[in-house]
Amino acid sequence: MTLANSVPVSELQQRRQALAKAMAPNSVAIIPAAQEQVRSNDTHYPFRQNSDYYYYTGLNEPGGLLVLLPGKANESLLWVLNRDPEQEIWHGRRLGCEQAQALSGVAQCYSLNTLQEQLALCIDGCDELYIAQGMQSWVTATLEDVLRQLRANKRKGQRAPQRVHDLTPFMHNQRLIKSKYEQACMRQACKISVDAHRRAMRATEPGRYEFQIAAELHHEMHWQGAAGPAYGSIVGGGENACILHYTENTSELRDGDLLLIDAGAEFLGYAGDITRTFPVNGKFSEPQRKLYNLVLRAQEAAFAVIKPGATLPDAYKASVQVLVEGMVKLGILQGEVEQLIADMAFRPYFMHGLGHWLGLDVHDVGDYQVAGKPRPLEPGMVITVEPGLYIPANADCPEAYRGMGIRIEDDLLITESGFDNLTSGVPKTIEGIEALMSRGNK
Ligand code: GLY
Ligand code: MN
Ligand code: MN
Repeated sequence: MTLANSVPVSELQQRRQALAKAMAPNSVAIIPAAQEQVRSNDTHYPFRQNSDYYYYTGLNEPGGLLVLLPGKANESLLWVLNRDPEQEIWHGRRLGCEQAQALSGVAQCYSLNTLQEQLALCIDGCDELYIAQGMQSWVTATLEDVLRQLRANKRKGQRAPQRVHDLTPFMHNQRLIKSKYEQACMRQACKISVDAHRRAMRATEPGRYEFQIAAELHHEMHWQGAAGPAYGSIVGGGENACILHYTENTSELRDGDLLLIDAGAEFLGYAGDITRTFPVNGKFSEPQRKLYNLVLRAQEAAFAVIKPGATLPDAYKASVQVLVEGMVKLGILQGEVEQLIADMAFRPYFMHGLGHWLGLDVHDVGDYQVAGKPRPLEPGMVITVEPGLYIPANADCPEAYRGMGIRIEDDLLITESGFDNLTSGVPKTIEGIEALMSRGNK
């Protein structure tokens, strides 16, 4: 499909209708946009929309509010910043009501200037209120004022909702299954992420700095129209690879070390999330080759079980079996494989999960358990599969493996028959990596 750079209106309407259908009769839901965040003094971080608000409105502007009133004639209402020539000269264009309504397909759109009194009218008389509980937002204070006002005006016949519900389970389980449009966005986010990794791999050589390789990644992302990295890029040489969320990216890359890169582009709101680990000098040493191939086999073992109906813990188990068998063979663990697994003896070396949902958020939302059991995979879900081994410099194991951190991560779209690996374009076999690096930029 060709990719529109705004979410199709019919799809936004379907998403809101599905959410409204899950709500109780005579209820109201409130979904606020994100606000700009101060970085320092009077400068702001680049704006990032609240993923839920974006999912239901397709709008990328700060400060708006979506209200759903299931079953009412005007089921979806929106408040946005009003047009303001003076503000727009300083701070940039605003959509205004007309354009926001056209892009989102809501029934009515109003200016935020009149929010408080209109919100009171919407909520008055509803029995149930749905909000994203636990998420502080700019609307919390306004909402409290409105509820206080409705309670105070009881004798005038006004009525505040009796019950407040958490909206996140409905929204987040809906976001778990990606539509065809979302799948196309994710394919593009992954394609750009693949190109960024290939560029970084070619640019790597001893004497470069981690931040220089990060610059190569980010150049490719922006050049291809991504908003930028979907999360803090991890570019960790040598022992830095053993710090799971290493984002300093300040060290010089040394001949003989491995480099771990975990980075992904954000495109039209959707995240890619790829990790590759490769030798700084372009050639794996013998111990690097052994440990690397072990992690690769662990990923392949997970791939072998992934299909609709399987679960992430099934895939985790398959990976752990391979990792532990391999670690015993390499002398990193000693003992009987099944007992080592039962004792979780591998946890000091593989301390994170195997993967996670991927979507508008890199660690995407949605429940991992349903009725106390691991959630079976379904077509339309996107997951990461990212086994790793991290051997601390002081580990009690053969010296050759100390100080190495290896992770291999791909993004899989679950299909009817299995999965589609959206990030297979970055080499990960030893031959594939060495061939790409030997071409290099040099
Ligand atoms: N980049 C974060 C993760 O892989 O989970
Ligand atoms: Mn990940
Ligand atoms: Mn990652």
